[in-house]
Amino acid sequence: MKLWSGRFGKETDALVNDFNASIQFDQRLYKEDITGSLAHAKMLGDCGVISQEDAKAISEGLKAILADIEAGKVEFTADNEDIHMNVEALLTARIGDAGKRLHTARSRNDQVALDFRMYVRREIPAIIAQLLDFQSVLAKQAAKYQTVVMPGYTHLQRAQPISFAQHLLAYAAMLSRDVTRLEDCKKRLNECPLGSGALAGTTYPIDRWETAKALDFDAPMGNSLDGVSDRDYALELLSALSILMMHLSRFSEEVILWCSWEFKFIDLDDAYATGSSIMPQKKNPDVAELVRGKTGRVYGDLMGLLTAMKGLPLAYNKDMQEDKEPVFDAIDTVEMCLPVFTAMIDTMTVHPENMRKAAGHGFINATDCADYLTKKGMPFRDAYTVVGHLVALCGQQGKTLEELSLKELKTVSPLFGDDVYDALSLETCMGQRSSYGGPAVAETARQIKAVEDFVKARSMQ
Ligand code: ARG
Repeated sequence: MKLWSGRFGKETDALVNDFNASIQFDQRLYKEDITGSLAHAKMLGDCGVISQEDAKAISEGLKAILADIEAGKVEFTADNEDIHMNVEALLTARIGDAGKRLHTARSRNDQVALDFRMYVRREIPAIIAQLLDFQSVLAKQAAKYQTVVMPGYTHLQRAQPISFAQHLLAYAAMLSRDVTRLEDCKKRLNECPLGSGALAGTTYPIDRWETAKALDFDAPMGNSLDGVSDRDYALELLSALSILMMHLSRFSEEVILWCSWEFKFIDLDDAYATGSSIMPQKKNPDVAELVRGKTGRVYGDLMGLLTAMKGLPLAYNKDMQEDKEPVFDAIDTVEMCLPVFTAMIDTMTVHPENMRKAAGHGFINATDCADYLTKKGMPFRDAYTVVGHLVALCGQQGKTLEELSLKELKTVSPLFGDDVYDALSLETCMGQRSSYGGPAVAETARQIKAVEDFVKARSMQ
């Protein structure tokens, strides 16, 4: 019999029973559910809504159920629909009438809002820890490649010289924002919906501050309708995870390109690559491709929940039972991608000579050539035009800028002197880009230290 069967004249249809149930997936919330019920029961006892004996019996009963669930001794059933009613039914079967008092001044609506919020709150630090590990690996790798010149790209066309360290540190910077976005989400979600009731609060003299404090929230949520209707925290998490996956996906795309024979900037460790069933020579970057592919699924999780929420009148609607699977899926996906991606980057082999070779072609020192003339007094726009002509000349002769003779250079401007060759060397071009945030060694060293400090500040917490 259903807990809510009082007003019904018939059994639930078997199809509806299964269709309506969420226990298959929301059993993940068992710990949060029991933790929330423990706080609720204690508060009911403290406020005199139920007797202290009942509160004690409930508390002991719930703790025993928790231990049994963790020992794998409990079987949940779709007949009890969800984790909330499964736990309540178990409790009542074990302790009788006191168990039936647990749901006083509470609804599954504030109960599920609480459980889900606490679950999200618990997972955020786990994801942050993985991000910090990845940042440490990026900082460590960057420290090795501060003087390794590679072409920086725009439009995937060689653009200006950077170092491989600078490129890796760009990802470290992106990950810092992922961390702080998750920290923000955790801060904002930390108000307690318990005590909102079904939607309209309750007539019992409950103490919402007591339960909020017991469950480590900063405060109770200020509006009972909002308390049961709000899923912003789930959407904020999914947004943060979508952006995080977008970062991993861009990195994946680059890893895939860098591993190709066209680039060969890196090779992946054999333990982090896969072969082909027919082509004996193949070594494929499957890990990076899968991470890129899984990004779409996390976006889907976000779009699914945004869409489920968009037309819902206040307060609770059963549509909201659809909130959990996308969040679980996104968390699982991210928690699976981050460690394997981190290990892949940690173990890759870098080919500085191929990066340097690629940097030598494509006129990535053309801006520096224009800057050379500008520093000798020519207005930048004129210098830009002059160097454009030189690039065209080089194109005809199959030469690089630094392969032109001083005589040839002087045909386009008398300002060229012997010192131009040093100014055009890629090491100079990269090494002198010492503006704040640039690729010069002093600046990548500063960035590495900033990443290390960022990680350290959080590991000490
Ligand atoms: N299983 C439900 C969910 O996940 C719990 C809340 C049910 N509330 C209700 N009024 N039917 O959303």
